[in-house]
This record gives sequence, structure tokens and C-alpha cells, in this order.
Amino acid sequence: MRHLNLPDNSAPIDGARRRAPSAERNLEPIAAVLEQHLPKSGRVLELASGTGQHIVALAARFGGLTWQPTDIDPANLESIRAWVAEVGPDNVRPPLHLDACEPGWADTQANWDVICLTNLLHLISATEAETLLTEVARALSPGGLFCLYGPFRRDGALTSDGDKRFDANLRAQDPAIGYKDFEWVEQVLAECGLSPRALHTMPANNLMIVTRRPDQA
Ligand SMILES: C[S@@+](CC[C@H](N)C(=O)[O-])C[C@H]1O[C@@H](n2cnc3c(N)ncnc32)[C@H](O)[C@@H]1O
Repeated sequence: MRHLNLPDNSAPIDGARRRAPSAERNLEPIAAVLEQHLPKSGRVLELASGTGQHIVALAARFGGLTWQPTDIDPANLESIRAWVAEVGPDNVRPPLHLDACEPGWADTQANWDVICLTNLLHLISATEAETLLTEVARALSPGGLFCLYGPFRRDGALTSDGDKRFDANLRAQDPAIGYKDFEWVEQVLAECGLSPRALHTMPANNLMIVTRRPDQA
């Protein structure tokens, strides 16, 4: 597990519960986009759930779905448990330890109707991102949706001074990580067999890429 110094690191609230300012800021725009795509019922796997702020709010808003939080960091699993204990709701499963970059995790995580991922691709290497996307495609049920949110380079360029600073900060900590090209991510998703469904421009230069695993022939 990488220990990165992020400008927007989460901070403790009480006990194990942590809050991340970015998760507060982007929750509503993300929820508004998900509203356009999520099925009324089914199972949602969230990768890299972080503090747990997103999943408790999304589970409350999309109550017909069952939500499975996961993360690589044991402190985040504790925070997720604490958020669920504090605010519910009862359609959130107990959090699982899952390294989304480990080859083969989809062997034990199959048939998800939806997989969500927010703000991880820029914090991992291109090789790790390829593994993650390959496993996501394997873990989806036929017709399942993948909702991917984060910052990306577009046409090889970073789109704002803030993005340039953040990307440089990440690469200084680990030259293998940093913003991925949107066009490269699109290509990897296609190679994994995921079809484009929607592309949403989000606040602060972020994108939400929605793709779908085709139905079985
Ligand atoms: C910037 S935070 C985003 C958290 C949350 N998705 C959000 O948007 O608030 C990145 C998260 O990725 C998790 N993470 C880092 N590497 C991971 C990996 N290989 N597998 C799963 N989670 C990972 C970190 O523990 C952290 O929770």
C-alpha cells in the first residue's frame, strides 16, 4: 500500500470516523450523475471507498440497491464501519479489504450489477490501472455498469494549473503514478470489453466515465 501525501487528506472526526473535504464537495455532483444510470435494485461494489462518506450517503439515496464498500487501508475500513454505525443505512454491507490492483480479485467478486470507483486511477501506476480495469470488467455481471470518476489528462494535456500542480506533486512522490490520459483509459476499457455509455464533465475538471459490460450473446 502506498502512503501518499495528498493535499486533501482525510482527518478524524470522532473515534475511527474520518472525513475528507473532497468527498463532501463531490458527493452531490456524483450522486446526480449516478441517478441517471443506476438501476432501481441490485448490488453495487465500491472500490477504494475511503472514509465511507460517499457510500453511506449514496446508499441512503439509492435505497433499492445493496452497497458493498471496500478499501485497501485498514484505517479506512474502520472509518467505514464507524460511519455505518453512526448514520446507517441498513443496505450497506460490512466493508471488505480489497486491493483493487491485485490481479485476480474478480475470482472472488463476481456478478456485480454496478461497480463504482472515485479518485483512485491517478494514485496508481498505469500497469496497476490496467489490472484494476481488467478485474472490474471480469467482476461485472452481463449488462453491469462501471462508473469511474476522477481527474484525467485530455489529449495529453493537464487542463488547469491546479491539475498541473497536483500531478507534479504525485509524480514527485512516485514517478510511476499521476494523471492518466482519458483517451488511454477509454482504450483500456474497450480492450476489457466495456462499451461506452456516457461521459459527464464534472466540477473541478473531473470526468465521470460510465461504461457497460455487454449482455451475454
Ligand atoms: C483519494 S482516496 C478516494 C476515496 C474515496 N473513493 C473518495 O472519493 O472519497 C483514494 C482511496 O484509494 C484507496 N486505495 C489506494 N490504493 C488502493 C488499492 N490498490 N486498492 C483499493 N483501494 C486503494 C485509499 O486507501 C483511499 O481510500
